[in-house]
Amino acid sequence: MEIFLDSANVEEIRRWLEYGVVDGVTTNPSILLKDGGYDMEERAREIADLIYPRPVSVEVTTNHCEQMSDEARGLASWAPNIVVKIPVINEYGEPCLGVVKALVEEGIKVNMTACLSFTQVVLGAKAGATYISIFAGRVADEGHDAPRLIRQAVDWLKEWGYASKIIVGSVREVINIQDAALAGAHVITVPPQFMDKMIDHHYSRATVRGFNADAQQALAKMEDLRARVRV
Ligand code: E4P
Repeated sequence: MEIFLDSANVEEIRRWLEYGVVDGVTTNPSILLKDGGYDMEERAREIADLIYPRPVSVEVTTNHCEQMSDEARGLASWAPNIVVKIPVINEYGEPCLGVVKALVEEGIKVNMTACLSFTQVVLGAKAGATYISIFAGRVADEGHDAPRLIRQAVDWLKEWGYASKIIVGSVREVINIQDAALAGAHVITVPPQFMDKMIDHHYSRATVRGFNADAQQALAKMEDLRARVRV
């Protein structure tokens, strides 16, 4: 399973990259806005360069399929490791599957995004999407069982031999990461604040504190014994 960072914060990406636990990055227009990446091209190029050869997803920002394809080609030209994010449908409900298919046929990697149902995953896989992003938090927002959807999607892709990888996004709580991992997600994209929560534990801190205190006590005893021998 791969871990992507759902972020456009260069410092956070650099930090987690140095720990050796990041396999890629995903962004969207809202994340870029939140993280101050107002110049999408500049920030995308910076992230792509930083994490190369790992992939970074960058999303198109238009509703029209023809413009979407042109924009996607432009995004993909910024760096060799840019994956273009194409929504499964536009805001009017028109399918973007033709855009996915055409771009993949041109050799551009596509992350088909904003998926909330099993049937969207099926159609994305048939259109050839490299990645299919299931927004687990939004699935749960609407009262549905996100881990069950992830498990069914992953199993179905495997059963029928589709190469698309499921990215689980829209993480709201650390337990969502555990649920997605155990449901078989190929990739989970995690906002940096949850990475800190994944690693920290009060009892690990207390355990290490206890060991350090005992080591100090042992050192003091050894020095005391040596002092007595010298006398
Ligand atoms: C990732 O690729 C998605 O864009 C992101 O996880 C969406 O998260 P949200 O539902 O919190 O906006």
